[in-house]
Amino acid sequence: MEFSIKTLSPGKAKTGCLVLGVYRGARGAELTRAAQLADRAARGALREALGDVSGKTGSTLLLRRVPGLAAERILLVGLGERKEFAEAAYRDAVRGAANALKDLGAKDAAVFFAELKAGARPPAWNLRHLVLGMREAFYRFDQLKTQKKSPAPALASVTIAAAATAPLREALREAVATADGAALARTLGNLPSNICTPAYLAEEARKLARQFKLAIEVLERRDMEKLGMGALVSVTRGSRQPPKLIVLKYSGGARGRKPVAFVGKGITFDTGGISLKPSGEMDEMKFDMSGAGSVLGALRALAAMRAPVNVVGIIPACENMPGGAASKPGDIVTTLSGQTVEILNTDAEGRLILCDALTYAARFDPEAVVDIATLTGACVIALGHVATGLFANDQTLADEIREAAGDAWDRVWQMPLWEDYQEQLRSNFADMANIGGRPAGSVTAACFLSRFAKKLRWAHLDIAGTAWKSGREKGSTGRPVPLLVRFVLRHAGKK
Ligand code: BES
Ligand code: MN
Ligand code: ZN
Repeated sequence: MEFSIKTLSPGKAKTGCLVLGVYRGARGAELTRAAQLADRAARGALREALGDVSGKTGSTLLLRRVPGLAAERILLVGLGERKEFAEAAYRDAVRGAANALKDLGAKDAAVFFAELKAGARPPAWNLRHLVLGMREAFYRFDQLKTQKKSPAPALASVTIAAAATAPLREALREAVATADGAALARTLGNLPSNICTPAYLAEEARKLARQFKLAIEVLERRDMEKLGMGALVSVTRGSRQPPKLIVLKYSGGARGRKPVAFVGKGITFDTGGISLKPSGEMDEMKFDMSGAGSVLGALRALAAMRAPVNVVGIIPACENMPGGAASKPGDIVTTLSGQTVEILNTDAEGRLILCDALTYAARFDPEAVVDIATLTGACVIALGHVATGLFANDQTLADEIREAAGDAWDRVWQMPLWEDYQEQLRSNFADMANIGGRPAGSVTAACFLSRFAKKLRWAHLDIAGTAWKSGREKGSTGRPVPLLVRFVLRHAGKK
């Protein structure tokens, strides 16, 4: 799907489908500025057709061949009440429009959404969320079905109407690159673990490196052993799949400028290991590499838009399996940091691979480190499927991430990382245990990681509730690629 920006007149635009917004007013529908212009050209036909249509957010009404208008079809999209029109309603309207366009068969559309007022957001925000919302709605994962359900939707080109087009060009480049990055993360998440292995992730990273001229290094098991990554290696032992530690670097910023480091959990399947998980919904543990997928997606996006930033992605990738050589409860390992860990539960494996990756991240002398992990079921209990859990040892960094998350509408909620929780990790036999009991499970997991990030400006994103959807709509969401991209860009001074 191609996007372009043009100055268009709603009445004269020759397009397969004119997409216009309509508010819900006290006395029926209330037309947006663009809809008013179209209605005037159509001698009031739109207002008449709207009749008692509610204007409910995201609802749509399709009209064909309206006399006076050059467009073949008109899609009127409900925006809800004008005074309540803000980010969430804007996104709902985009989704409603996209789903209607999907069923329509139109090859092209002209959308008049860029100049709506979504809260206090500027047109560039509208444009980004229009592109991301449309691409999200049109995303499909059918590469493993031999019988495709229906032919791919026809919509090939979307024109975004705006009065001043020049200021929006950069937003469009960012949005398209971000959508491509999110789609990559989604596809990697959706691929099953027999295809998306640690080696597959490494090969994907190599492809990105070739395509976008990124620097890459992949450490093998023997490298991890030699370095002393005892925690990471312990998780890999139950599996036949060779582990990989992927390091991918994008250097688009000033030479000598310290990079931002992203560390992504890349468990390509989490059985729990010897502390085996119950079988219900265990298939969803193929999504346990979503942190890794989001790091690859974010790097792809930043490289494709040639962002003026330096970023390094670090991905520990392996399977968590039971097996003859697997770690057993009570085993004690020595981490790369030198601290020892008693593995009381082999299902708390994410923190074991991340702690060594965090220690390793210090080598790149990063300005800030953000890890992204489907780390705890407890985070899903705390925040559900709406907000990603945010933890940080630096409030300035936490605030930057919170603001970027609001901007990207890829939202986070900050959780405490207070000393008081650390004592739950006490062990009688090692420096710490890898679990902290049932209370505040997502907090004690973050506390565990914090012990390996003392010398870093560090934040942790627990995406266990937000990286994928369960049930009928089961599938990866591509989150938090939009957040990571927006964070890096804002951090580099781009609003
Ligand atoms: N990958 C899981 C976390 C997870 C579970 C994410 C369910 C999404 C849905 C992680 O490796 C894990 O198993 N965590 C354990 C930790 C516990 C043993 C302290 C958990 O959350 O149950
Ligand atoms: Mn686990
Ligand atoms: Zn896991």
